[in-house]
Amino acid sequence: MSELSALDETIQNLMYEVGERTKAAMTKKLQIDEKTSPHDLVTDVDKSNEQFINQRLRQLDPTAKIVSEEGFGDQVHDLAGRVWIVDPIDGTMNFIMERENFAIMLALYVDGQPTLGYILDVMKNRLYHGGPALGVWENETRLTPPLNRGIRDSLIDVSSYILMNDIHHAQTAARAARSIRVFGSAGISMTQLITGRTGAYITNLKPWDLAPGRVLCEALGLVVKPIDDHPLDVLSSNFVLVAVPAAANDIEQLIN
Ligand code: IPD
Ligand code: CA
Ligand code: CA
Ligand code: CA
Repeated sequence: MSELSALDETIQNLMYEVGERTKAAMTKKLQIDEKTSPHDLVTDVDKSNEQFINQRLRQLDPTAKIVSEEGFGDQVHDLAGRVWIVDPIDGTMNFIMERENFAIMLALYVDGQPTLGYILDVMKNRLYHGGPALGVWENETRLTPPLNRGIRDSLIDVSSYILMNDIHHAQTAARAARSIRVFGSAGISMTQLITGRTGAYITNLKPWDLAPGRVLCEALGLVVKPIDDHPLDVLSSNFVLVAVPAAANDIEQLIN
């Protein structure tokens, strides 16, 4: 077994373990705090998952750097070497309000190259994992590239902020599609793309929202592109289009 496959197996086990911890924590009362507004919440589970994951990563890969959402990672200024990117609960609002449709996410970038990605849909117990060298998997099943359909034959997914504010004319693309979807978790949105349920996702994402899905989407031939003048930057927020190539072409004609 290659070094990468062995690491991948270890991380898959870690993801399932954090999933089980998360489900156990949901049987207790959540401690919920506001971060920047009532629309931006964090729970004790976001924080304890991040501490748990980061501690394991530090044992496993002591010289790597860690970028993570809730403040237990490193100050990372460049992508040299091995960088783990952690979102301990993606879709915290869904976690609190729906108690489903949230994910735990992790990615490994090596010298800036997307290498491994993990998205665990916790309540469905589905782990999406892999990368360019290992292929992309849903649990034990290898995924094939989704159908390359244009926007008129596709569902397109737009983040609520972009849709409501018509950022980069996203409403024009939304109107041209078969219909739209809004999931409230970047991770769940990425899983809908790689399984061919949606054809495109127009959104604004922080590093931990984008990094894992980007690894998996690119490995399956989907396009991950900025929709403004800034090049994709793994360490910053990005306005981004993730889509099968035909839908990406259609959307690029309609937006901006
Ligand atoms: C959020 C979710 C949401 C997306 C936001 C993210 P969080 O992540 O992925 O779908 O629209 O931009 O911040 O804060 O719940 O991890
Ligand atoms: Ca958050
Ligand atoms: Ca997130
Ligand atoms: Ca989060």
